[in-house]
Amino acid sequence: MIYFNKETLEFHLSNDKISYIFRVMEETGVMEQLYFGASIDVYDCYDFLIERESKPGNNQSEGSQITNLDDIKQEIPVYGTTDFRQPALEVVYPNGDRISHFAYHNHEIRRGKARLKGLPSTFGKEEEVEILAVFLKDRYSELIVELRYAIYNDFPIITRQNIITNHGSQTHQLESFLSLNLDLPNEDYEWLHLHGAWAREAQLSRDKLVTGTQQINSTRGASSHMHNPFLTLCLPETTENQGRAYGFSLIYSGNFLAQIQLDTYNIARIQLGINPFQFSWELAENASFTTPEAVMVYSEQGLNGMSQTFHEFYKTHLINQKWAHQKRPVLINNWEATYFDFDEEKILTIANKAKDLGIDLFVLDDGWFGTRDTDNGSLGNWTPDLRKLPNGIRGLANKIVDLGLQFGLWFEPEMVSVDTPLFAAHPDWRIGNPDKHISHGRNQFVLDFSRSEVVDNIFEQIDKVLSSAPITYIKWDMNRYISESYSAALDKQNQGELFHRYILGVYDLYEKILEKFPDLLIESCAGGGGRFDPALLYYAPQAWASDDTDAVERLRIQYGTSMVYPLSSIGSHVSEVPNHQVGRLTSLSMRANVAMFGTFGYELDITNFSEAESAEIRTQIMTFKGYQKLIHDGVFYRLKNPNDGNECAWMVVSKDQKEALVGWYQVLAKPNPAYQRLRLVGLSPDKNYGVSEGGTEALRQGKDLMSVGLLLGENLIGRPENEQGRSIFGDFGSRLFYLCEK
Ligand code: GLA
Repeated sequence: MIYFNKETLEFHLSNDKISYIFRVMEETGVMEQLYFGASIDVYDCYDFLIERESKPGNNQSEGSQITNLDDIKQEIPVYGTTDFRQPALEVVYPNGDRISHFAYHNHEIRRGKARLKGLPSTFGKEEEVEILAVFLKDRYSELIVELRYAIYNDFPIITRQNIITNHGSQTHQLESFLSLNLDLPNEDYEWLHLHGAWAREAQLSRDKLVTGTQQINSTRGASSHMHNPFLTLCLPETTENQGRAYGFSLIYSGNFLAQIQLDTYNIARIQLGINPFQFSWELAENASFTTPEAVMVYSEQGLNGMSQTFHEFYKTHLINQKWAHQKRPVLINNWEATYFDFDEEKILTIANKAKDLGIDLFVLDDGWFGTRDTDNGSLGNWTPDLRKLPNGIRGLANKIVDLGLQFGLWFEPEMVSVDTPLFAAHPDWRIGNPDKHISHGRNQFVLDFSRSEVVDNIFEQIDKVLSSAPITYIKWDMNRYISESYSAALDKQNQGELFHRYILGVYDLYEKILEKFPDLLIESCAGGGGRFDPALLYYAPQAWASDDTDAVERLRIQYGTSMVYPLSSIGSHVSEVPNHQVGRLTSLSMRANVAMFGTFGYELDITNFSEAESAEIRTQIMTFKGYQKLIHDGVFYRLKNPNDGNECAWMVVSKDQKEALVGWYQVLAKPNPAYQRLRLVGLSPDKNYGVSEGGTEALRQGKDLMSVGLLLGENLIGRPENEQGRSIFGDFGSRLFYLCEK
C-alpha cells in the first residue's frame, strides 16, 4: 500500500479506493503534496503531477523562479520558507525568532497501528493497516518532525498525525502544530460543516468556497455545540448519493480549528488540528508533542458514501471495541420525568413500570448526590444523598437489579460547586485566576483536570461509587465551558498548555475508569451534543446528541450528526410531550420512529401511562430490539433532507442487502397532497423484498424500489370500496417500512 521511489523521492499511499501522493522537493527538501483522490496506478515517476510555473515573488533558491513556496502544495508548511499562507507548525526559537525549515531526513514503513496511551486514535492489526513515518529535520535546530500517515486496506481513508521532538538541549516553544494540512486544487468546491448551539446541534451548512479563509473552531475547552471538528469539500453537483466529497474529521475533544484557506492560485489549504488560539507548549530537551489524529475520507458516492466510510471506519478502528458491535440496552432515564425531584420510591415506581414495558436499563440522572435539589450545588461531592435515597446508591441499585433491570448513574466529573468539601479543601483546583473574576456556568466551576491530583481525586470518588453497587452504565455529563483559562499549577510560560492538558486529563480519567471497570458502558454528554466528537467515542461508544428531544428537531439533529457518526453512537430517546424544549405535541409513534435510528431509550414519566400507551411502548421496544442489529450494523443512507422541506427520510440496509428499514417523516400534513414516492437506494436490484408496514406486506423487486420507489400515496386502482378513505398521517406523521428478502 505504501510505495517509495528512491530515485525521485516520491511516496504513493494507495489501495484500490484512493491514492495519496507526495514527494521531497529536490531544491528545498520540503514535502510537496501532489495528489489526493481516486486510486491511480503506481508509476515510476510522478512528474506529471508536479505543477511548476515561473512565479514572481520571493523564491527559496537563489536565482530560481520556481521555488516560491507560496505557490507550492505542501504537507507541513511553516513560516520563513516564502509561504505566506497559514502555517501548520509554528515554533518560537530561544532567541525569539519564528523561522523554520523542515526538510526530509528519512522515513520508515511499518505494519499495524497500536493504540496511543492517553490520546484517542485509530488502531489496526498488521494485516489491516500500513504506516508511513516521514522524519523531517529542522535546518536551524535539533527539532525533528514526524509526519505519520496510516492507510487501511479497505477504506478510502488516510489518517494523519504529527509528532515533534526536541533532540537539542535548548527549550523551544510550540505556538501551533496542526494535525493535517492538505493543499487541494479547488474545483468550484462547496464546503459543508455542522454548526449549532445548545438544543440545536449538528445543523448542516453548505456554502460555496470563496477566496480567503473560512473557518470553524472552538475556544471553549470542548469541541462544542457550536461547531463539530469536521468539514467536507464537495462539488456543487454532489448529492447524498452521487458525486465527489472529501471528508475531514479530527479525533479531538478540546479546542479545535478546521479551516480552508482558498488562495489566489485557487489552492484550497485545508487544515485541522488543535486551535492555535491561546495554545503554546514548552518543548524542553528530549520532549515530544503528539497532535491528535485527523482522518481524511474520499468518496465518489456522494455524502452518503463519505458518511458510510466514517461510520464503518470509526466502528472498526476507533470506537470502544467492547461495544462497537454489541447490542446496547434500551434504557429509561428519569431526567425529564422527575428532574431533581425524586426519592427512592418514585424511582422504583418508574423502574417497576420500565421492567414491565421491556426496558433493559434504568439510568438515574442528576440529583442523587450531596444535597442537590437544584442545579446550584454539590458537584464534586459524589456521595449519595440519603434524604432522597435512604439506602444509598447501593441499596437502590440492588433493588433495581432485583427487578431484572441494569442500573446506570449520572456523573459530571469535571465540575465543582462551591458548597462542597472538595472546593473548601482545594479552592485552587478550580480553573481561573483567583485574583480576577471567574464566571459561573450553570452555577458551577470547572475543575483543573490538567492536574493529576485532581483527576485522581475524582477517580477515587467515582471508583468508590462504582465499586459499591452493581452499576453497568454511566452518563458522563459536562455542562459548561472554560471561560477564564488559568491554572494555579502551571508556570507563566506554560499557561498556554492548559486547554490541551485539561482534555488529556479527561482522557486520563476515562482510561482509569475503563481500566478498572472494562465492561462499563459510558454515554458521553455535554449539555446534549456539546462534546460529540470521535475522540470521546473511543471511550464512550454513544453520546447524548442533544437536550432537545422534540421529534421534529431531532430529525435535523440526527440527520446532521449522521454525517460523521454512526447510528449506534447517537443517543436518542422518546421524551415527554408537550416537549420540554419547544412545547410541541408529537405522537408516541413519531417520537419512537425518530429515536429508533439511534441508540433508543425513553426519558419520560411512564408511571401514569394508560394500558393502550403502555401496549404501544411494549410494541415499540420489541420492534426496536428486532431491528437493532440492522440499525446499528447496517449501512445508513440519508434520503430526504429535513432542511429542504416538509419531509425527512432515511434508511438502513443490512450489509448482505437482505433486509432494510426505512423511516419517513412529515412535519406538517397537507390537504389533497400530490402523489408521492420515495426512491430507495442500496438494495440488491435482483432481490425480491417483502415490504411491510404495520400488518400489511407487499412484494416488490429491489430494482423497482430503487427506480420507481416506495409508494407513499395510495394505490386504490380497481378498489372502489376504498376510494372514499385516505390514510391521513397528520402533523408530525411518520412511517416505518421493513424490507426483507423473499
Ligand atoms: C445536562 C444533560 C441532561 C441532564 C442534565 C442534568 O443538561 O444534557 O441530559 O443530564 O444535564 O442536570
